[in-house]
Amino acid sequence: QLDAKSFPEGFLWGGALAANQCEGAYLEDGKGLSVADMALFKPAVDVKDFKKQTAITNEHIRWAMGVEGAGEFPKRRGIDFYHHYREDIQLFAEMGFKVLRFSVAWSRIFPQGDEKEPNEVGLKFYDDVIHELKKYGIEPLITLSHYEIPMGLVEKYNGWAKPETINCFVRFCEVLFRRYQKDVKYWITFNEIDSIFRHPFTTAGIVPDRFAPEQLNEVIFQALHYQLTAGAMVTKLCHEIIPGSRMGCMLTKLTIYPYSCKPEDVLLAQKLNRRNSFYTDVQVFGEYPAFIMQEWEREQITVERTAAEMALIKEHTADFVSFSYYMSMVASTESGLEQTAGNTARGIRNPYLKSSDWGWQIDPVGLRYSLIELYDRYRLPLFIVENGLGAHDVLTEEKTVEDDYRIAYFTQHLSEMKKAVLEDGVELMGYTSWGPIDIISMSTSQISKRYGFIYVDCDDVGNGSYQRYRKKSFDWYKDVIASNGAKL
Ligand code: BG6
Repeated sequence: QLDAKSFPEGFLWGGALAANQCEGAYLEDGKGLSVADMALFKPAVDVKDFKKQTAITNEHIRWAMGVEGAGEFPKRRGIDFYHHYREDIQLFAEMGFKVLRFSVAWSRIFPQGDEKEPNEVGLKFYDDVIHELKKYGIEPLITLSHYEIPMGLVEKYNGWAKPETINCFVRFCEVLFRRYQKDVKYWITFNEIDSIFRHPFTTAGIVPDRFAPEQLNEVIFQALHYQLTAGAMVTKLCHEIIPGSRMGCMLTKLTIYPYSCKPEDVLLAQKLNRRNSFYTDVQVFGEYPAFIMQEWEREQITVERTAAEMALIKEHTADFVSFSYYMSMVASTESGLEQTAGNTARGIRNPYLKSSDWGWQIDPVGLRYSLIELYDRYRLPLFIVENGLGAHDVLTEEKTVEDDYRIAYFTQHLSEMKKAVLEDGVELMGYTSWGPIDIISMSTSQISKRYGFIYVDCDDVGNGSYQRYRKKSFDWYKDVIASNGAKL
């Protein structure tokens, strides 16, 4: 049983969004196309097979670039946050948010990605969003890159596969740092940087079939190195332009348990956990771990790295470690075990856990475990910047959703988070739930996979009034924040 103690003063409670999943207005006010605008609505594909679902080919791109309108591309319309942001932020304020994590759509500011001057109208939108947040005392936490690389850079440089993209990204970030130096203190470089291997197109603008299959791994490692270099460059720049600012790295925390206590299973789980940590290792310790360089040698992978790049990576490391947490995974040396879906990955089913409507295994204790593990490894403040439950919701005649299942999910996760902070000594800056208002799913492009405390009245094909309604969980989260977590 937990006592009624609350979280440390200043704990940042809030929610998290990504531009491409909420804004819509995909070509408005000069915005160019981004990788997200290529994503089709694909609910019929087995949700366990993420790769099949998101496989992006050159042919698909040729076709999708020529298609006008949002039609089959739900991320192009989002939830029309572009025109509803005032009322949405007002609702966040009503819940008592202290922070809102969101991203800036790169192609709104640099439509092709490599222009010399930014698009002033695009910037004006973010001026307004930030102004609105400040009005309610909500801290902005900006993700600089959340699956939104401009298609212009995909066409010119194969996205992050070429070093030219580094300077384009740095220019984009510099514009934001200068413009928002008085208003934005918290930043994140790359959302789920590790996802580059799971979905290279969405994360880095790499179209797999433009490369020979045996070359692909090397191309991805090289692109990752360019992202890590760019991350260090913009961390340096951010600190120079905004004294006292804090730049975080971000990881998909995929904690892996051994399926059994068989030593081989334990070793395999350890190996996979190290692989999951390696990105953050570079961003915090400033160097590549030995086991990754051994992997490169074994697989004859050459990653071009200059001494200057490595010096930047060493010197400009992250100020805090942020991560998403949705599930734990299981590793076994045995084959034939039952599989289930995961966060853009497949995994073995854990018999002790229940799953969400989309097959994601719900593991609140795993959140506590992950917090302790990350804190012990990095000794830096942590920030949970994504966590939540994607579920089928039903809007009642009273225009609400009786989402007790969501309240139960959050109660369990936040209680474990509280134990990590109050009993295990973990330093945690804040917690932002994923999709505090329903948004388009990253993996399936459904809106029927709803995460929000706020219901958005529209369906998977875009029909609806786009009216916002408070779900039952809205008041629940409001109470949790108002009591600074004492009411958990
Ligand atoms: C994270 C991403 O992987 O998971 C988000 O950073 C995404 O963009 C979230 O929306 C939930 O995944 P999905 O596929 O249910 O939207």
